[in-house]
Amino acid sequence: MTDQPADLNAKFQKRIFSGIQPSGNLTLGNYLGALKRFVQKQDEGIETIYCLVDLHAITVWQDPEALRRQTREAAAAFIAAGIDPARSILFNQSQVSAHAEMGWLLNCVARMGWMNRMTQWKDKAGKNAEKQSLGLFAYPTLMAADILLYHATMVPVGEDQKQHVELTRDIAAKFNHDYKVDFFPSPAPLIEGAATRVMSLRDGSKKMSKSDPSDASRINMTDDADTIAKKFRKAVTDPEPLPETLEGLEGRAEARNLVNVYAALADISPEQVIAEFGGKGFGTFKPALADLAVSKLEPISTEMSRLMADPAEIDRILGVGAEKADAIAQPILAKTLDIMGMIRSR
Ligand code: AMP
Ligand code: TRP
Repeated sequence: MTDQPADLNAKFQKRIFSGIQPSGNLTLGNYLGALKRFVQKQDEGIETIYCLVDLHAITVWQDPEALRRQTREAAAAFIAAGIDPARSILFNQSQVSAHAEMGWLLNCVARMGWMNRMTQWKDKAGKNAEKQSLGLFAYPTLMAADILLYHATMVPVGEDQKQHVELTRDIAAKFNHDYKVDFFPSPAPLIEGAATRVMSLRDGSKKMSKSDPSDASRINMTDDADTIAKKFRKAVTDPEPLPETLEGLEGRAEARNLVNVYAALADISPEQVIAEFGGKGFGTFKPALADLAVSKLEPISTEMSRLMADPAEIDRILGVGAEKADAIAQPILAKTLDIMGMIRSR
């Protein structure tokens, strides 16, 4: 799908949309790959819409009470990390019904072949595809709906979501082509910084994930200082000291990961980390990394606990965000239905 006019996006105002699943504790991967950058985009003054995608979370089983708590916790994490509900729209997906409606419309645009090629589906379903929910298979079209419902032009995500944003572009292009309109923009994935793919602390070939059965594989945003220090101390690495140059990290996935995490936390480049720690062993580097992580995460988790003491206030903030989101989404959904030939007479 490349037949989009080159100047298509010029028609649309700059707008950022991104989402995180409230399916468990947010991890250091979520923080560095997503949340920290969401705050930066907000502070750059771009219009930002951030969504706790509870409809995505239920593509795999969620205990209802746990889902509600995790959604509030994720909202608290966003606010504690610097998302200002007065400057960004922050809401949970299911409060804006247009997401589900747009999701259906786009299910009728996306092709089975495109969905079958999604690597996250293949990874998650594995050999058990027959037992997965239909929602898990269709989830990338719901993600496309999330983005296109706001005519978002930029989508900050970690590396693992790039293919889904590309699918969103294909869906937008097919819609525009089939209905002979230039209604949807072609949203760009924003994948920036040293930590777009934070790896598991137990296995340098797997991404750090909130759904990993091993808690030792990840740093949770709510872990206390001792737990963070212990998890980094026990992180799997090779026995060599850190190299004197970045090239020396080739083939050393675990060491590379810890260097990237340090760089992203300190807002410096991996080269600068190597300049400081090259030649030093993990006995020196890991405690320095743990101290840095604690200094960045502890104030956030303290603020999260404070916010969590007043769940009604969190719900109120999400409600206000949902109203603002709905006001943008409804006219775009209505126009989409109109373009597709639905009668709108009430
Ligand atoms: P999820 O937890 O799957 O809802 O992901 C929410 C956001 O965090 C997405 O933008 C992901 O790409 C990002 N993310 C999740 N895990 C990682 C990771 N290990 N490294 C970098 N980004 C991540
Ligand atoms: N699928 C994303 C993930 O699991 C979350 C998500 C849902 C999202 N809708 C989105 C991300 C829209 C960016 C834009 O990480």
